[in-house]
Amino acid sequence: MKRVYLDNAATTPLDEAVLEAMLPFFREKYGNASSIHEMGREAREAIEKTREIIAKRLNAEPNEIVFTSGGTEANNLAIKGIALANKDKGKHIITQVTEHACVLNACRWLEKLGYEVTYLPVDKYGVVKIEELEKAIRKDTILVSIMHANNEIGTIQPIQEIAKICKENGIYFHTDACQSFCKEPLDMKKMEIDLITINAHKLHGPKGVGALVIKEGTKITPLLHGGGHEFGLRSGTENVPGIVGFGKAVEIMNSQVVEKIRKLRDRLTDRILKEIENVRLNGHPEKRLCSIANFSFLGIEGESLVLRLDSKGIYCSTASACSSKKLEPSHVLKALNLKPEEIQGAVRFSFGKQNSVEEIDYAVDVLKEEVANLRKISPYQP
Ligand SMILES: Cc1ncc(COP(=O)(O)O)c(C=O)c1O
Repeated sequence: MKRVYLDNAATTPLDEAVLEAMLPFFREKYGNASSIHEMGREAREAIEKTREIIAKRLNAEPNEIVFTSGGTEANNLAIKGIALANKDKGKHIITQVTEHACVLNACRWLEKLGYEVTYLPVDKYGVVKIEELEKAIRKDTILVSIMHANNEIGTIQPIQEIAKICKENGIYFHTDACQSFCKEPLDMKKMEIDLITINAHKLHGPKGVGALVIKEGTKITPLLHGGGHEFGLRSGTENVPGIVGFGKAVEIMNSQVVEKIRKLRDRLTDRILKEIENVRLNGHPEKRLCSIANFSFLGIEGESLVLRLDSKGIYCSTASACSSKKLEPSHVLKALNLKPEEIQGAVRFSFGKQNSVEEIDYAVDVLKEEVANLRKISPYQP
């Protein structure tokens, strides 16, 4: 059966060149980067090379990159690490309702420790309201954490504007850029961002590796204590093959790849909106990521559609990978104030560089058939 993978916001396939770059570090170059002998130095050099590649891409300094086990850990380090280190200044944090679960749950955990968190609302496109942010800032606010691009609907937040407001108020600004890294412009210095979360598996790199980029001079506490790796901020033997793969994945991600992905997204979007009735595109119509398109198909259940497509070898999802198993309505779509039937009929398609125009056309052809089939048996007619 033909297999068309359109769930690249959950994870992407590993690029062959990335695998090739990683393999020697599983085989012959297996040294521990903390060892002082040649094999240790070889591993250390490989890690430092990736640090430089990432620093260059973000206009940051190499010693501002702290490798972690992924986006979840980096977000936890940013939020809890800033909260614990700055509690003398204040215990108030601002975030927003459509953040990834790892940001929301890190904040909820801090609430149990006596911190206060403001969850800002978003508009109907999922964009955070700047005036609400300004109103929420208090004397004891120590951190604002607003994601760059949303993982369910792709909406891009005005992070430069937010960073400026934070700077003016002497508050740290963190952004979760797991979905947008290497796809949207992101400049640590120019945008005056204090902390950026990134990971490798959303850009054809390996799973289980990410980084928190921390502006020099930021007051932050480590969450893991041990041998003092990663400038004392993340102890534990470094995942050398993963870090090498991360570097390669960043190196080969360029504007042509982004444009290719954007064209695939637009082709699927145009065909769906033209050829299927009673469909709405969720998220911002323009300010959205090249790799995500989320639609509500009225009159049907998103899960039923995902399963029907699955049986035809087309893989997509109803919400983010981590919450889709719960069968609860998406917190992101709820925040957009969609009607219950719009939330129920929502499906996310997300694109990677391995996808082709033929795959998109096949997916839309099957989708048209399956939407029609489901609508025939649906008790609710749009
Ligand atoms: C926006 C966002 N933040 C954080 C994460 C978590 O990253 P990881 O899977 O590397 O822990 C993801 C991906 O699942 C994501 O999409």
